[in-house]
Amino acid sequence: MTNESTATSAAGGLDVAVIGTGYVGTVAAVAFATLGHRVVGIESDPAKLAALRAGSVPFFEPGLGEFLTEAVGSGRLTFTDDLAAGVAPADVVFICVQTPPGEDGRPDLTALRDASMAVAAAATGRTVVITKSTVPIGWGAELRRIVGAVGSAADTAVVSNPEFLREGSAVNDFLYPDRVVLGGEGPAELAVVTELYRPIIEQSFPAGRPELEPVMVVTDTATAETIKYAANGFLATKIAFINEIARICDQAGADVLTVADAMGLDHRIERRFLGAGIGYGGSCFSKDLEALSWFGDDHRIDLPILGSVNRSNAAQRATVVDKLRTGLGNLSGRRIALLGLAYKADTDDLRDAPAITIARSAIDDGATVTAYDPVVRTVAALPDVTIADDAYEAVAGADAVVLVTEWREFADLDLAAVAAVMAGDLVVDGRNWLDPLKVTAVGLRYVGMGRSAAAG
Ligand SMILES: NC(=O)c1ccc[n+]([C@@H]2O[C@H](COP(=O)([O-])OP(=O)(O)OC[C@H]3O[C@@H](n4cnc5c(N)ncnc54)[C@H](O)[C@@H]3O)[C@@H](O)[C@H]2O)c1
Repeated sequence: MTNESTATSAAGGLDVAVIGTGYVGTVAAVAFATLGHRVVGIESDPAKLAALRAGSVPFFEPGLGEFLTEAVGSGRLTFTDDLAAGVAPADVVFICVQTPPGEDGRPDLTALRDASMAVAAAATGRTVVITKSTVPIGWGAELRRIVGAVGSAADTAVVSNPEFLREGSAVNDFLYPDRVVLGGEGPAELAVVTELYRPIIEQSFPAGRPELEPVMVVTDTATAETIKYAANGFLATKIAFINEIARICDQAGADVLTVADAMGLDHRIERRFLGAGIGYGGSCFSKDLEALSWFGDDHRIDLPILGSVNRSNAAQRATVVDKLRTGLGNLSGRRIALLGLAYKADTDDLRDAPAITIARSAIDDGATVTAYDPVVRTVAALPDVTIADDAYEAVAGADAVVLVTEWREFADLDLAAVAAVMAGDLVVDGRNWLDPLKVTAVGLRYVGMGRSAAAG
């Protein structure tokens, strides 16, 4: 945690059940236990459950392990695979299961529906069921229907509470959010959840830093669900936008970093999320844009901006491979080294990772690919890629290097050592993460994303 606040614990505490202990659910479970509630994490994947029960986080998330150890040690956090037993005594149930894209891009609601039915059947007494998973707009009404059909609608309230944490800074984002969004159909439904978040909202921040104080947005369910999609849609659009500007910079001999810096000086625009590079990946942006597009199709609404953002992002990934083709002439028989596999730094998440698309294209062109990532050691989707033990081993003998993930250690690479072991001299900096002058100073060719001016 980095914020200098004075978080307070809940007096008394509630019984909280969290269904699905992946990236979101584990953080929520640990956070509410840290705030003084009795929490049970319910997980159906035996390997994840075993890891959590043994006190270790089954994925890479900085800082989460320490919080997990403390919360489990306090006796306030336990884990089980018995959903009915975990839900029965709970005052509050968070549903945090996956909502991945299905074959056609629509959200696959199988896990969400199964978990919701099981919760509705298992809830006893006054229970608030909170959807934290990102769900199609209108899901809240469907959940109310499920609760009415399967459970005790009179005793079970339904609330939408979309999550905005970022992998890599998830604990901090959860405990010190910009905002907490709650959607429900009445104050009674929302009262318990408002109480649950009160310590997070009311913790005192350093005087004179109003920008750190979170805001609680209380609204109806459909609006809460739309806020989540709108936020992710906008962030993805901002990235895709600057990447299109980067493509223009490449042709114009302009420098996209200077363009983005100058754009960001305009307070209406703001610099963050104007990082030109390889394009977005991860489990959320592309699937949430797909979900919005499907909403448009289903309701016959024309959404040309939202419908084109993923296409623009895919074109940016293709740009990286085009830079390799241009730089090497052709990729057949060439050796390419990827620095980074995770979709961004400080996570091991490979869902929709650009590295996979780029490696596949290069291999399809006849290249062999070696990769190194500080935390990812295997990639099921890339059985034909050799994973090296460090960056220097990955680049040894390579005709070209692509910097795929903006890990801190790649900014500190010994570039002379890289140049000494490479067979070729091409460095494609997919994240504009390296200093072009330092790269060229050791005799390597630098190709960034919209940085032809900077590369000289
Ligand atoms: N990962 C993020 O950065 C992020 C951020 C904000 C919102 N979200 C949203 O939150 C949701 C969860 O995302 P995630 O990344 O944590 O997913 P995840 O796949 O990491 O975790 C989901 C977990 O739920 C478990 N599960 C599924 N059905 C279950 C059941 N019936 N009982 C018990 N466990 C069950 C799965 O085994 C899995 O461990 C998604 O809707 C996602 O869009 C994710």
